[in-house]
Amino acid sequence: MIENQKIIIKENAAMLAQKATTIFNQTAKESIDRHGRFVVAISGGSTPGRMYRMLAEEPYGSAIPWDKTYIFWVDERCVPENDPASNYGAAKKDFLNRVSVPEAQVYPMPGELPPKQGAQKYQKALIDFFHLEDGRFPTFDQIFLGMGADGHTASLFPGQDALDERKRLIVAVKGGNPDVNRLTMTLPVLNRARHIVFLISGKEKAATLKTVFEDDQARLPVQKIHALDGELTWLLDRESASLLPGEMIHQTRLTV
Ligand code: 6PG
Repeated sequence: MIENQKIIIKENAAMLAQKATTIFNQTAKESIDRHGRFVVAISGGSTPGRMYRMLAEEPYGSAIPWDKTYIFWVDERCVPENDPASNYGAAKKDFLNRVSVPEAQVYPMPGELPPKQGAQKYQKALIDFFHLEDGRFPTFDQIFLGMGADGHTASLFPGQDALDERKRLIVAVKGGNPDVNRLTMTLPVLNRARHIVFLISGKEKAATLKTVFEDDQARLPVQKIHALDGELTWLLDRESASLLPGEMIHQTRLTV
């Protein structure tokens, strides 16, 4: 296991969501103490829904310093916000509409625009927000990622050119389920986050996770995520971790 990685395994999906929510709250406070704001990027998919709903519930809803929290998206499906596939639309229902985060601090990806235009617009939004000079990449305080059973993460799918992107912050791709045009952050952005958190749940992910940790040659998109200058946490439930070698788990900080 690489030094800046740890695995946390929780008994079930509810406990997993609770741990993720606690981590969000803790990192928010630490980031604000350090530099006055918390800048986080979140994912879509079904796994984080439970965590997002918990963010709006007590004790978290009023404990999280929403007034200094800035929310971005790791990826988005190119659909209107009211489409059930919209990551922003889902997050609005799950928590954004129910917490006191100022609207101006929420940065949805422009899923309604033609994909390339949307990618350029969001890249510009990141450049402006982080005051980036040419060729530089942003540093998010925290990024939450999921993993598909095919080993994709964000909207970086196996075999696609987007995995080789080294300059752009955001690219347009097509694929996944639903198989639609999408916008995604690129690896240089994801890998520079101070804290990368994978949130993975369910037995359908178990075989993929085993491959991730045991087969270096598998070249899954997930295996290209490395915390370059930060830390990476694998937050798993017992089902998704069920095929991981016991020995590897014992070497990590296992919290069941
Ligand atoms: C998106 C994602 C994607 C997701 C994984 C896992 O499709 O919007 O951000 O990378 O995290 O597909 O999705 P599930 O949680 O639904 O398994």
